[in-house]
Amino acid sequence: VDGALILALETSCDETSAAVIRDGKHILSNVVASQIDVHEAFGGVVPEIASRKHVETITLIMEQAIKESGYSLRDMSAIAVTQGPGLVGALLVGIIAAKSLALALDIPLIGTHHIAGHIYANELVHEMVYPSMALVVSGGHTELVRMESEGQFTVVGRTRDDAVGEAYDKVARALKLPYPGGPHIDRLAAEAAEAIPLPRAWLESDSYDFSFSGLKSAVLAVINQARMKGEHLDEAALARGFQESVIEVLVEKAIRAVKASNARSLLLCGGVAANRGLRSALSDRCQAEGVPLLVPPSSLCTDNAAMIGAAAYLKLKRGEWTELDMKADPGFSL
Ligand code: KG4
Ligand code: ZN
Repeated sequence: VDGALILALETSCDETSAAVIRDGKHILSNVVASQIDVHEAFGGVVPEIASRKHVETITLIMEQAIKESGYSLRDMSAIAVTQGPGLVGALLVGIIAAKSLALALDIPLIGTHHIAGHIYANELVHEMVYPSMALVVSGGHTELVRMESEGQFTVVGRTRDDAVGEAYDKVARALKLPYPGGPHIDRLAAEAAEAIPLPRAWLESDSYDFSFSGLKSAVLAVINQARMKGEHLDEAALARGFQESVIEVLVEKAIRAVKASNARSLLLCGGVAANRGLRSALSDRCQAEGVPLLVPPSSLCTDNAAMIGAAAYLKLKRGEWTELDMKADPGFSL
């Protein structure tokens, strides 16, 4: 697999993305077309529209990724694609394109787990060491994943209700901020002079699980109360209170999980890893605890195909090809 060129596709949600990766490390191109503008009016991703948009753009995005890489389609060693989890209709678009290419070019197809992609985004910028703990925080997932060695995942904790990004988006929506709301809450929180105190959901003392729906309800209650009484609402202070509650629980549980499993490093990944408050709080805490923290640059935290290529490269190296009759798996487990 020396010098392997992987063309990777990612269409699991509302980003159509294609990338070319050399040797699992070098990003030759990583084209991301966001559908945010078409979903914004609905305040969230509309599955049917997502599938249709992927169909419209996938060929163009693929061509652009190939062109920017400086290679041609015939030079590719393998085709990687997100197999799940995600929206089934959206996943299918990438999968059909990937299967057609693998068949026509007679090269391996590598079906990849979306979360493995988020985790291995770190491989594009860091040397990963094992055992390791990953805190995966995105619009669809909130998980603590232990990796005993490369490709060996054990989910030790997960959200019991909303994903972190989902909670961010719902709170933002209640504050009438545009979709996706995470970056807006992040910005508001940074501007706030103070924080409105909100509850933290620790759950059972030995649990690595998360819960964000109670916090979200508490935020909505503050908003509704202010509106009913016609009082001014300090939205920045509310955003900061919400963000502080989220961050405190995420950081505490992640550090506890690292220590309990003797992990040699903590990885932060997924769309919410772009959050400046979370990055800096986790970085401070890891420094204090002597835990190495690996975080990809923000552009590799949100959905993109380069991370899928990075994860697929490790499977290619192990000879783990995927059958051409593989199916989209919306509930794919790690
Ligand atoms: O990983 P991702 O691109 O897609 C999924 O696989 O879900 O994550 C998208 C999520 C959205 O909920 C978005 O609001 C959140 O990541 N997000 C953020 C920030 N940037 C993106 N949340 C908080 N702060 C940010 N700066
Ligand atoms: Zn994602």
